[in-house]
Amino acid sequence: MVDEALLRKALRVPLERTDFPSLGRKYEGKVRDCYTTPDGRRILVTTDRISAFDRVLGTLPLKGQVLNAMAAFWFDKTRDVCPSHLLSVPDPNVMIGVECEPLPLEVVVRAYLTGVTSTSIWTAYSRGDRTFCGHALPDGLKKNEPLPEPIVTPSTKAEKGGHDESVSGAELVARGAISEGDFDELERLALAVFARGQEHCAKNGLILVDTKYEFGRAPDGRIVLMDEIHTPDSSRYWFAQSYEGRLRAGEEPESFDKEYVRRWLAAQGFTGDGPIPTIPDDVRVEASRRYIEAYERVTGTTFVPNLDEPRERIAAALERDTTGASAPEKKGNRTTMRARVYVTLKREVLDPQGEAVRKGLASLGVEGVKDVRVGKVIELEIDGDEATAREKIEKAARSLLANPVIEDFEVVLK
Ligand SMILES: Nc1ncnc2c1ncn2[C@@H]1O[C@H](COP(=O)(O)OP(=O)(O)OP(=O)(O)O)[C@@H](O)[C@H]1O
Ligand SMILES: [Mg+2]
Repeated sequence: MVDEALLRKALRVPLERTDFPSLGRKYEGKVRDCYTTPDGRRILVTTDRISAFDRVLGTLPLKGQVLNAMAAFWFDKTRDVCPSHLLSVPDPNVMIGVECEPLPLEVVVRAYLTGVTSTSIWTAYSRGDRTFCGHALPDGLKKNEPLPEPIVTPSTKAEKGGHDESVSGAELVARGAISEGDFDELERLALAVFARGQEHCAKNGLILVDTKYEFGRAPDGRIVLMDEIHTPDSSRYWFAQSYEGRLRAGEEPESFDKEYVRRWLAAQGFTGDGPIPTIPDDVRVEASRRYIEAYERVTGTTFVPNLDEPRERIAAALERDTTGASAPEKKGNRTTMRARVYVTLKREVLDPQGEAVRKGLASLGVEGVKDVRVGKVIELEIDGDEATAREKIEKAARSLLANPVIEDFEVVLK
């Protein structure tokens, strides 16, 4: 677990917003800065912004890195049950996906009778509704109890600043927002991804309570999962160990989600309208600690933060990822070194080339090959003497080590 001193240090390098005009057209979501490249990719920069009650409330240290790593983890964990937009994770704050045509609904999956907002299932149930988004609900359920089975309860995507509305799939089909076939497909995919999430969480002492997915149509016509998946921003997690006891005692379950910040805000009398109270550093640090705890608990790995100035680091990473390193201009009469950086990708990372090699080998009759790991070679030229060039490249490469997809690297100078 990252110590508190480091989180306080991270307060000094917040990633509030980015501006990289050369990447393409920019769209600023509440949490992500998105760039659509001319060649059909979407670069999603997950910033440290925190949103609640549909408003941006400030930043939490390292939140963007935690969320990005967590989404990458889950896209990989679920890739055999649902295709996703993910192409690569070139930086701790960045994910590159295929640009999709978003489907006009948020696909919410709920497994428990809970929630506090106006669109939540508990709010509807407690006022007497026994049908929610087309699903019949039995009488006699108590708050925070499991539903008979996980259900898909779509909500509409509100325009910026607006609030979403829960509706049934049939209603969306009737409104012409989506075809019946596409909705059935979404429901099937969402339940499969959710089941995988619940299964994995159960092994780690967690309950995946509910979540929100976004799907889009990829250029090849397939429906794919996009945006983020099973992050504490889009999902509610409870601790399995204390769940039963707290339920019996009539207490709220112990949770990971951003309810911590929401509760602090509510205690200040803020529930979404009017001026936003300034969140004190102590609350920001504690909220961030919880995000990291969530990451570590969910993935079973230690979170390695990167405290480099994020904008510079991201610019450098994108330069590497999209264009490869271009030769720097010669300055004065210094010599130019050529270097190769051999990068090893982590075993658990989405590795389409490795998979392609494995399949290729199998089709050539090479049996028993599994787990092929394909690395990346970055070739670059850099000005300066050997020692300085090596030092510079290694320093830059070390920041890659905090990248959730990279395990190790080796610099070879020529
Ligand atoms: N592969 C993709 N293709 C197209 N759009 C995508 C893709 N992945 C994510 N998006 C969109 O990018 C945006 C991500 O930004 P972010 O998550 O901050 O937005 P948000 O606050 O959830 O929603 P809003 O866009 O309403 O502000 C979302 O609008 C999401 O729908
Ligand atoms: Mg989003």
